[in-house]
Amino acid sequence: MIKLLYNEENLPSIDTLKAKNYEGAAPDPENPIKRIGVLTSGGDAPGMNATIRAVVRAGINSGLEVFGVTRGFHGLWKGEMSQIGMRDVSETLQRGGTFLMTARSKTFQTDEGVMKGARMMEVYGLDALVVSGGDGSFKGARALARIGVPVIGIPGTIDNDIGCTDYTIGYDTAMNTAMEAIDKLRDTASSHERCSVIEVMGRRAGYIALNVGIATGAEVILIPEVGFDFNQDVIRTILDGRNKGKKHYIVIVAEGVGSAPEIARKIEEQTGIESRPTILGHLQRGGSPTLRDRTTASLMGVRAIDCLLEGRYNRIIVEKNGKITDVDLEEGLATTKTIPSIEIENARRLS
Ligand code: F6P
Repeated sequence: MIKLLYNEENLPSIDTLKAKNYEGAAPDPENPIKRIGVLTSGGDAPGMNATIRAVVRAGINSGLEVFGVTRGFHGLWKGEMSQIGMRDVSETLQRGGTFLMTARSKTFQTDEGVMKGARMMEVYGLDALVVSGGDGSFKGARALARIGVPVIGIPGTIDNDIGCTDYTIGYDTAMNTAMEAIDKLRDTASSHERCSVIEVMGRRAGYIALNVGIATGAEVILIPEVGFDFNQDVIRTILDGRNKGKKHYIVIVAEGVGSAPEIARKIEEQTGIESRPTILGHLQRGGSPTLRDRTTASLMGVRAIDCLLEGRYNRIIVEKNGKITDVDLEEGLATTKTIPSIEIENARRLS
């Protein structure tokens, strides 16, 4: 059973907990972890099913009982959970989405919601929780860790924007989905000698836009990390292309930069080149995960179980220099990530 460090009455202020002077759960040799929960949270990502499957299979094979919590932290505080067996995760590896479903829980952003979640873990006798999701989900996990619940985070988001890891599950599938869609858009843009302005996901991060832009030979890539001059970097680039005999123009916009319809309208107005916007949107979040996402999800799931069995609590599983390893949850959340300038320069040299 989890031993909560605080209860509803003696819960310290959030600032005290934030100062990382909390103890966190420590492994207890008398009471090893026996039963764990797994949930998926935030935006879904291809490979989340493979993550759940890996946690379930590696967990059961190591003698643990695994409970699946539905609808992320929202389901946790409402007690929506049941035991998952080996066969329950058959045929899930190749499926997109998450069969545990996911949500963004407002309640869980409050102390009360976190306490309720921990209490539900007590009700079901869960000793630890594995959370698959992005930054926001890890903050939810951290809130539980701060009151004494052992947690492990597994990065699952198509945005690849978690600072402590080189890679997040779902990123490769999302990029391949976007690349295939853009290849098709190029065909029609070319037939009509048009400019195709394509908005890809990435509210705060340009990883998808940059790499998909390189992979599709885009003329212009606009990402939130790099400022741009519309006249020089967009209009001038397109006109230079036309003057050299180009028949189509691909402009990739990360959603955090602006909207494709607005950018297409401005391009058409200023250049006279017919321009069409496409928002790829949630299309990028679906689909069967690629090999990269299936294997990363599987290996990260196994690593999560290893952390729990070895008493390394409150960790984020990461990929660093091609290796699956784990880092401290607080430190991981404090790590920021930027796109290396060489990658931006390379994209420029290729356009
Ligand atoms: O999963 C991350 C992300 O895809 C962002 O790039 C995007 O801004 C956001 O999710 C949109 O999520 P939703 O529409 O599900 O709230």
